[in-house]
Amino acid sequence: MDNAKLVYNGQDYELPVVVGTENEAGIDISKLRAQTGAITLDPGYPNTGSCLSAITYLDGENGILRYRGYPIEQLAESATFTEVAWLLIYGELPNKAQLGDWRRQLSKHSFIHEDMLKFFEGFPITAHPMAILASMVCALSAYYPENVEEDLQTNIARVMAKAKTIAAFSYKKSVGEPVIYPISGYTYSANLLRMMFATPSEPYEVPKVFEDALRMLLILHADHEQNCSTSTVRMVGSSQASLYASMAAGVTALWGPRHGGANQAVIEMLEQIVAEGGDYKKFLDRVKNKDSGVRLMGFGHRVYRNFDPRAKLIKKQADKVLNHLGLQDPLLDLAKNMEEAALADDYFIERKLYPNVDFYSGIIYRAMGVPLNMYTVMFALGRLPGWIAHWKEMREDPQNKIYRPRQIYTGATQRDFVPLEER
Ligand code: CMC
Repeated sequence: MDNAKLVYNGQDYELPVVVGTENEAGIDISKLRAQTGAITLDPGYPNTGSCLSAITYLDGENGILRYRGYPIEQLAESATFTEVAWLLIYGELPNKAQLGDWRRQLSKHSFIHEDMLKFFEGFPITAHPMAILASMVCALSAYYPENVEEDLQTNIARVMAKAKTIAAFSYKKSVGEPVIYPISGYTYSANLLRMMFATPSEPYEVPKVFEDALRMLLILHADHEQNCSTSTVRMVGSSQASLYASMAAGVTALWGPRHGGANQAVIEMLEQIVAEGGDYKKFLDRVKNKDSGVRLMGFGHRVYRNFDPRAKLIKKQADKVLNHLGLQDPLLDLAKNMEEAALADDYFIERKLYPNVDFYSGIIYRAMGVPLNMYTVMFALGRLPGWIAHWKEMREDPQNKIYRPRQIYTGATQRDFVPLEER
């Protein structure tokens, strides 16, 4: 591809163009400031590529999502979450021996140090499980302070396995029940549900339909290239902060309602509409009135401008779970009505706003009995292999540099300090 040409301050500059394996083009401006003295300005980075990456391909115009080349639909249908995690982190599908060993490692490392249980005691019962997850994942760096890169595979297995246990324990904390330890021989999803819902006096038989739905949800959340939390993980990791500290940063970035926190916000929004009489058209009018500051949660995406392939799969899965249970959830009907009304409305059509991954996922969690404040935790567990994969890819890149964007300063120009008595 030809170089791009820039005319700035009456001078011509040539900028190389980098083309990816799917023909995505990027104008390489890495020497721009050295050559021109100017920087680029792109608030929120919608036009900025921060790295080269071989992990996930996303075509937002055509609703395509692939992990390491494999279509998300195929992985969601047939793969296990642990093999998808391996695929993302190590680049290829695991063979039998690798998968067996990976499973054994995840099982072996799924206990947390007993001393860490004291931390749980210190949190108030009202603590949001995302606050607990972020703190505890970061605290793992206090228990494994050695150089993680010397035995990266063990540390990767540790954080993957222990995050699930921490998540389940944070739920137990919120309901005031004793913790249930992980056991081997269960899938990742079944182990998590069992640790959440079994009690010392009552076992919990994990329904197959829940296990499968959670497997699919975790896979659909596993990576999404340079989203806010993954970019945060890369940003923090670029300073050579530890794997655990970088993962904790990912959890906190995910928490906000514009990102992973949207799954909780969707259900809160639907419940509010029901509580106010169920008039969703009135709610949509409020959303369209910019002064209200209200958004249709679970709608819109920075990259998808057609449809989110994950949302399609989750909507089908929500129907499957509810049908299997013979349940009717009025919130699912409401969500479907709102989707239909929004997709026919000029406001949403003009702005290319479609349901995203968070619009229907909460309906499935509700059916499973997962409480509202755990939804974003479930998202975080799903996204963990993606964060690890990006952290590893960045750290293994010999060209990797500390992330350090610039700015255009708009504050006061130089002025002299005025002593307090003269102000
Ligand atoms: N409801 C109403 N209007 C919206 C919405 C929405 N959900 N999303 C975007 N818009 C409007 C926005 O007001 C703007 O209108 P205008 O051009 O008139 O000013 C236009 O659409 C473009 O929006 P934007 O905020 O510039 O778009 P963005 O790419 O910066 O934001 C987003 C993407 C996901 C933060 C945003 O769509 C949003 O806030 N959605 C609701 C929260 C949500 O569901 N988040 C989950 C995202 S998917 C899971 C994940 O990756 O975490």
